[in-house]
Amino acid sequence: MAAGAIPERVSIGVVGLGHWGPNLARNFAALQDVDVTWLCDGNSDALERQRPGHPSAKLTASIDDLLDDDQLDAVVVAAPVPAHAELATRVLAANKHVFVEKPLGATLAEAEQLVTAAQSGDRIVMVGHLLEYHPAVERLKAMIDAGELGEIRYVYSTRLNLGKLRTDENALWSLGPHDVSVALALIGEEPIEVSAHGEAYMNAGVEDVVFGYMRFPSGIASHLHLSWLDPHKERRITVVGSEKMATFDDMRIEGKLTVYDKGFDQNFESYGEYLARSGDITQPHISNEEPLRIECRHFVECIRSGETPRTDALSGLRTVRVLESLQNSLDAAASRGASATEGVTSG
Ligand SMILES: NC(=O)c1ccc[n+]([C@@H]2O[C@H](COP(=O)([O-])OP(=O)(O)OC[C@H]3O[C@@H](n4cnc5c(N)ncnc54)[C@H](O)[C@@H]3O)[C@@H](O)[C@H]2O)c1
Repeated sequence: MAAGAIPERVSIGVVGLGHWGPNLARNFAALQDVDVTWLCDGNSDALERQRPGHPSAKLTASIDDLLDDDQLDAVVVAAPVPAHAELATRVLAANKHVFVEKPLGATLAEAEQLVTAAQSGDRIVMVGHLLEYHPAVERLKAMIDAGELGEIRYVYSTRLNLGKLRTDENALWSLGPHDVSVALALIGEEPIEVSAHGEAYMNAGVEDVVFGYMRFPSGIASHLHLSWLDPHKERRITVVGSEKMATFDDMRIEGKLTVYDKGFDQNFESYGEYLARSGDITQPHISNEEPLRIECRHFVECIRSGETPRTDALSGLRTVRVLESLQNSLDAAASRGASATEGVTSG
């Protein structure tokens, strides 16, 4: 497809068919006027497992085959994080649109390199900040933007599970992109102060649990609790405002968004004192459309319209910048802990 032309059918190839890539392939294939024409994975078993679901797609171990195909419009990168920047840069160099799974890169330098590549061409670059496409998160953001919660005081999230143990990234980089991208989107600012603590129990140097703190220019605070070593399966974000509070609980089948008319009102009978207000608890109706389907559709719509994706390369960069700052704080805390332990044992 010639650069700039609007394709009648959008042709997509998916690179990386491990745990997550098949979900992307399935959702893109289900969209009208989209053909998943290539599936690519270095692991032949992973590739073969997808053959029955995509009988007309070509299978390959090498992304080169996708990049050489003039009929291919876009590539979806769902390979492990260390490969994101290199693969996505090659896709852009081949003049194709690219969807990169979260996070945009493994380091700030990689994310910056991708932003530069995105800005020097006219191809769509979108990062898979899935939660930003969740109808409950969209509704929560609309409520915040309309001032329905009053002034936002703080936001905190928990993303816990006895989940997939990874060795190529820690809980911060594996689970944190969701909460960081949503916090940045809801608050609409970038933090001026971050700190993090974490512990590695299962594999040396790979934190299984991370506690992160961010403070924003307007004074809003945010806390993250991320762990794949936890008895509870929780995916929850709470926003505390001056007028109302709201919780997005992604583990609930229904009632994922709950709004609490709770807070403290000034007691006009006694100056300087407050009265607790505990009013209605409401649960707005939220569409149950799969967020991944909405995200995939948005990428294709952007290819067709030339519109900048809601989660473009710059939003990917902002999230990676926060993740890297949290990681630096984590590393500094770990080395302070190591010297303190040395002090105890040698002292
Ligand atoms: N949005 C979400 O909720 C969500 C959830 C899980 C994972 N992810 C993201 O998806 C990506 C993949 O995660 P995963 O859990 O599926 O990992 P995974 O390790 O299960 O699968 C990765 C696959 O990529 C293949 N691969 C690696 N390098 C390749 C290359 N150069 N060319 C072709 N194939 C290659 C591997 O063989 C493997 O099959 C990561 O970026 C992760 O952050 C997103």
